[in-house]
Amino acid sequence: MMVKHWKRIVLGGLGIAALQAGLVTQASAQEKINYQEHIVPIFRNNCFKCHSQDASKGDLDLSTFGAALKGGSSGSGLSSGDPDGSKLYKVVAHMEEPKMPPNSKITDKELELIKKWIAGGLLENSGSKAIASSAPKVDMAVDLSKLGKPDGPPALPQDWLLEPSVRTGRTTAVLGMASSPWAPVVALTGQHQVLVYNTDTLELSGIVKFPSGHPAQVRFSRNGKMLLAAGGEGAKIGLATVWDVVTGEKIITVGEEFDTVLASDLSADQKWIALGGPSKLVKIYSTADGQQKYSLKKHTDWVTAAEFSPNGKYLATGDRVGGILVWEPATGTQLYSMRTAATKRNPSPSPMTSPSAPPSLTTASAPSPVTGPVTSTSGMLKMANWWANSAPIRLPSNNASKRFRRRSRLLRST
Ligand code: HEC
Repeated sequence: MMVKHWKRIVLGGLGIAALQAGLVTQASAQEKINYQEHIVPIFRNNCFKCHSQDASKGDLDLSTFGAALKGGSSGSGLSSGDPDGSKLYKVVAHMEEPKMPPNSKITDKELELIKKWIAGGLLENSGSKAIASSAPKVDMAVDLSKLGKPDGPPALPQDWLLEPSVRTGRTTAVLGMASSPWAPVVALTGQHQVLVYNTDTLELSGIVKFPSGHPAQVRFSRNGKMLLAAGGEGAKIGLATVWDVVTGEKIITVGEEFDTVLASDLSADQKWIALGGPSKLVKIYSTADGQQKYSLKKHTDWVTAAEFSPNGKYLATGDRVGGILVWEPATGTQLYSMRTAATKRNPSPSPMTSPSAPPSLTTASAPSPVTGPVTSTSGMLKMANWWANSAPIRLPSNNASKRFRRRSRLLRST
């Protein structure tokens, strides 16, 4: 393995230690430059934002080896052994229009690697590198008839690592928080890590690392035995990871997003992981083999919420402009589509029934009321509106409302 890892430890003043782990990939002279090891990191940092499966400007997807070779609207931009005859090289070297990336230039070192990769015959990988399996370490599936309070003692973290992967002098915004449904455990997102506290003792129970950016959301499984965190880094990477709550061991990681994941959930039967984000796509992964089963393209804006129903049969997703869709995760079929008014942003669907009751869905969106539609086989029916933030102010009568304005104080309506 020629890849070198450098860890830098920066010690700040006043006893505050900041730990930064930088991973730098460098090629030594005799090493064969290949797509997987050397080119993907360059593309990820500079190009995937616009040239991936989810966003292919100029019809060019650079996110897989095959797609990169295929090229864009003007054909393959890669001519093996001939960098100067390769459009891709010429546009990143700013020798030709359209100069890429549009308003910047990659470093000379990166340019050199791309040149060597093309000159060296466009290798896909080093050849010796085994492709890592993304299958989970254990069979995660749970029998649906066993939903509800799990047998045995509640899952509490034991022997987790307490070593933070990042220490900061200042506190950071907590983007996500979740509490275990069955144990006194709460999980909080941090930078490159998820912290778990015991709510009885108020002590830190452990930390798991989330190296690929910042977790945006944390969730416990319905039986409280698994912890899921999803997130990543804007315009670069997005994924979701599941850990065992007792051991802190990583069970599975899914997602190869080119932007951060904003919403994710693990189904009650633990067969499915759903995720969504700025790509507007809802992706459903099977936990049996870690493979993506469906990529659902129906939302018209960023997917900001995702939640499976307690019986594991439905998935509700919400987007930034108020669209809510209900899916069947096993088949990838869209069952219902609801739309809150355009002014109602970021709906967060949340199924609130018990596993045995007919499914219903509550959705909250700001600044709108909480609404509770009920699903039935014949469709969606809105049940109720509840106001969560402020009661709607009803101006009594014309007269009264005039007076209300003039005196600018609230009148009691009769
Ligand atoms: C901000 C978005 C953006 C980024 C980042 C970006 N590109 Fe592009 N790229 C475009 C657009 C838009 C086009 C189409 C422009 C045109 O056809 O005039 C394009 C076209 C191309 C083409 C020509 C495709 C064809 O077949 O015509 C190549 C090659 C290319 N880009 C490579 C890259 C590489 C390599 C990087 C990263 C180093 C990169 N781009 C980064 C937006 C981007």
